[in-house]
Amino acid sequence: MQEKIIILDFGSQTTQLIGRRVRELNMYCEIVPYNKFPYDDPSVIGVILSGSPFSVYDEKAFKTDLSRLRGHLPVLGICYGAQFIAYTSGGSVEPAGSREYGRAHLTTMDLGNPLLKDMQLGTQVWMSHGDTITSVPESFKVIASTDKVAVAAYQVEGEKTWGVQFHPEVYHSAEGTQLLRNFVVDICGGKQDWSAASFIESTVAQLKEQLGDDKVVLGLSGGVDSSVAAVLLNKAIGKNLTCIFVDHGMLRKNEFRDVLRDYECLGLNVVGVDASAKFFSELAGVTEPERKRKIIGKGFIDVFDEEAHKITDVKWLAQGTIYPDCIESLSITGTTIKSHHNVGGLPEKMNLKLCEPLRLLFKDEVRAVGRELGMPEHLIKRHPFPGPGLAVRILGDITPEKVRILQDADDIFIRGLRDWDLYDKVWQAGAILLPVQSVGVMGDERTYERAIALRAVTSTDAMTADWAHLPYEFMAKVSNDIINHVRGVNRVCYDISSKPPATIEWE
Ligand code: XMP
Repeated sequence: MQEKIIILDFGSQTTQLIGRRVRELNMYCEIVPYNKFPYDDPSVIGVILSGSPFSVYDEKAFKTDLSRLRGHLPVLGICYGAQFIAYTSGGSVEPAGSREYGRAHLTTMDLGNPLLKDMQLGTQVWMSHGDTITSVPESFKVIASTDKVAVAAYQVEGEKTWGVQFHPEVYHSAEGTQLLRNFVVDICGGKQDWSAASFIESTVAQLKEQLGDDKVVLGLSGGVDSSVAAVLLNKAIGKNLTCIFVDHGMLRKNEFRDVLRDYECLGLNVVGVDASAKFFSELAGVTEPERKRKIIGKGFIDVFDEEAHKITDVKWLAQGTIYPDCIESLSITGTTIKSHHNVGGLPEKMNLKLCEPLRLLFKDEVRAVGRELGMPEHLIKRHPFPGPGLAVRILGDITPEKVRILQDADDIFIRGLRDWDLYDKVWQAGAILLPVQSVGVMGDERTYERAIALRAVTSTDAMTADWAHLPYEFMAKVSNDIINHVRGVNRVCYDISSKPPATIEWE
């Protein structure tokens, strides 16, 4: 049985980060809504209570019954979690006189306490709270303080229950990982047996049992998630898996050919469908971004459905859905939203059962699984690319000629990033074809041609992003190459907007 830590989600923005940190300790964990603890699951060895946008004394604050947890399992409350344990035990939590955000240092620490083992006095921690615990019941022993926060960490005496006011899961808490390791490994007794190899072994066994001799279809996009899902399923069920890779004509230069070859080299049973003519005709004259997305989404479903029907007796649709797409996140209004990402409406239309073998993995774990499965590094490290492809990077209407121009410019940019060893240093990069023409001069000729914008960003999750500070020498070379080699372009600009307020894509 795979032992696990449960993280009760009270709605904090850093809940997923707690999950990732615990997984980085090779300890399996699951994030569940604050009121959905799996009491019947014997594999749970400890509980972490997350932070929350609420104050514990708010009427609408998320509450859960701790009596079935405390004393039964080790419990660690983080921020709101710590305040909630203290408050529901008779302690006081009040708005902090001076709010403490950002760096702080633990100026007193009980270094003999198992939660703080091997940490240093004065260690830097990250605070982010508007409330503070002003008094704790007698049975609560304060084990750390900062200059401003008297109760920065506590343990309930006679119980394996702890609370920390700071956020050990964020990088700025210098010894946060040590604290989480102390809890997960020493206190909960976690065996740290979660790894890419163990995941593959158990998942392949489960898939064999779940799927038996059934046939499965999967849509490949060229991206990491669907590719890893395909290779994993291929290991489990071999030729009963058929992968469908649709070329909607808006892929990068030569991408369809190159990626198809990669898939074949991986031994996948893959059908490549060139449907670009259909998409070009449906997109002709369409300028509105949402319309473009809808046309491509629907067209993709139609093509996929038609191909899948050529295979007899398909029972399952497999998808590369990953954990962040599945976690039930809590909105501030208290309603639970299921934000589930799948290929817009495909499962409903096709009446197939869904198989999502990566649904418990974070992105970095998907990459580790891909590596362990022997996939080539260039597939694993590919930048994200939007489903509608270059269609949302050609502002205005789409023609084959515009796609050709953009593919050529994009190709020079991306190859340049690889050649200059910059590709892995940015989150995502690409070129955008602007709907403007400008005057230029080439030789003795006046030109009136198109402008290309280049976009490269750094990010960790695409929720926020900054423009990448690429070297001027590199930019000069790329600009020169594009203007000299891409017919129809006489101007190159670089997008220096961050997200927010801009987005990564232009449409
Ligand atoms: P934005 O432009 O919202 O993009 O900052 C955030 C991330 O999502 C990608 N993206 C998409 N991916 N279908 C996708 O599969 C889409 O329609 C889509 N739109 C944006 C974008 O490339 C970036 O990584």
